[in-house]
Amino acid sequence: MNKLNILIAASEVVPFAKTGGLADVVGALPKALRALGHDVRVVMPRYYIVDREKYALTPMEGSLGVPMGIMGEEWASVYEGLLPGSDVPVYFIEHEGYFGRKGLYEEDGFSFNDNDNRFIFFSRAVMQLSKMLRFHPDVIHANDWHTAALPVMLNTLYTYDPDFAFTGSLLTIHNLQHQGRFYKGLMDVLGIGWNHFYELEEYDGVNLLKGGIIHADAITTVSRKYADEIRTSEFGWGLESLIDHLSYKLYGILNGIDYQEWSPAEDSFIAQTFDAEDMSGKALCKDALQETFHLPKRADVPLIGLVGRLAEQKGIELLAHAIWKLLEMDIQIVMLGAGEKWAEHYFSDIAHKHPDKFGCFIGYRNDLAHQIEAGSDMFLMPSLFEPCGLNQIYSLRYGTLPIVRATGGLDDTIENYQNDQMHGTGFKFYDASSDALVNTVGWAVHTWYNDRIGFEQMQKNAMSKRFDWNGSALEYEALYYKISNGRRGQ
Ligand code: ADP
Ligand code: GLC
Repeated sequence: MNKLNILIAASEVVPFAKTGGLADVVGALPKALRALGHDVRVVMPRYYIVDREKYALTPMEGSLGVPMGIMGEEWASVYEGLLPGSDVPVYFIEHEGYFGRKGLYEEDGFSFNDNDNRFIFFSRAVMQLSKMLRFHPDVIHANDWHTAALPVMLNTLYTYDPDFAFTGSLLTIHNLQHQGRFYKGLMDVLGIGWNHFYELEEYDGVNLLKGGIIHADAITTVSRKYADEIRTSEFGWGLESLIDHLSYKLYGILNGIDYQEWSPAEDSFIAQTFDAEDMSGKALCKDALQETFHLPKRADVPLIGLVGRLAEQKGIELLAHAIWKLLEMDIQIVMLGAGEKWAEHYFSDIAHKHPDKFGCFIGYRNDLAHQIEAGSDMFLMPSLFEPCGLNQIYSLRYGTLPIVRATGGLDDTIENYQNDQMHGTGFKFYDASSDALVNTVGWAVHTWYNDRIGFEQMQKNAMSKRFDWNGSALEYEALYYKISNGRRGQ
């Protein structure tokens, strides 16, 4: 098979800038595709926080002209670097006015009011950069609403451009809740012509993700279950009918994780490394974690970890209701997260009131995330929806049994407790209620106290599971070929 030219655009990429799992995916998938022999290039904005020196970014010669419809032509500088540990080029679009700010999308909880122009500018710059590089992509791979204008631009502004004669597009939906909804005047900045308005139109405004869904040659979500869910009103955020109608081009490809970063046997952030054969280090990690959170150092109590954005999606309201009942059990809970202010205050307050049972760190800390994965006995993810979720997969690797709501990727990656324990890797609940959450935590805690052999067998099952990028990259590769062949009329 001929090798492909793949251009991946995203608003965040590990290790340069990250707010969530999107960055993990775009930092890892390109390397796995490169290992399959493809010419993969990544493009992202050069935010203020992207450290040019640390990553040895070099400026490319000249400026990149970026047409912005009625706003006229604007200019970007481009920096070039590599995804660490690989030869995958990463291009950074720099524009002081749009990206020279501290936050990626917001500051102090308020979204920037020009996010529409910022990401239209970025998307258009991706197209222009591809031309400047004479890259001739077989596939442009867009991710989430920030780059969802790419398939639209490809099919409108660049239809007759020979540089994109055989270029197809893929849009990956990592999260359907955020769609890029803006005032319809954005059409004039997009510059694709009002005859295309209905393709992006929603309640008389512009919905960028909708446009991307319509124009992309294929759409993926980051788990199979989520691909099914977004065809329903419960998970579709208003786009369910459209997505259901276009389901012939919808695929679910599960994310992988980076086992070089997340392996208890090689983790430099944790108190003591361990593996499935010798779990003694895990007990030391638990001890260290209790110390970090100033909890009583007890080996005889189950410790439950939580890490993630404090956002509605993650089921924080269920947890806020459930927490009082959970704290009646003989357990300890540690939480690491940042996000909605009410939740930050609420959970900090509980930690203050129950210092012997509940530890809470508000903020973003990768080292602590590793320590929680390693030192906890169980990991709680009560998400209302979860397109894939990475933390439950990390948890499996660390023998930290996930307690999850059976939705999206959580359902696809966790096998429920079985009486024979030979297959189970975690504990699931289905109902999005705090009662179901409390009951299921109770069930897991009961298993920990009363069936230690069964619990340890489940830890072994969990630690033997692998969700690496090699398998997922093969699925993306097959889809890229399908898209490319389609564009070439084959
Ligand atoms: P989402 O992308 O919806 O936030 P994922 O589970 O896919 O959820 O990915 C979240 C990623 O962000 C994981 O790598 C997780 O460890 C990390 N993360 C989230 N919140 C924090 C935090 N407060 N501190 C450290 N890491 C965090
Ligand atoms: C989104 C989803 C999360 C997924 C991540 C990476 O942020 O909320 O479930 O794992 O994207 O695809």
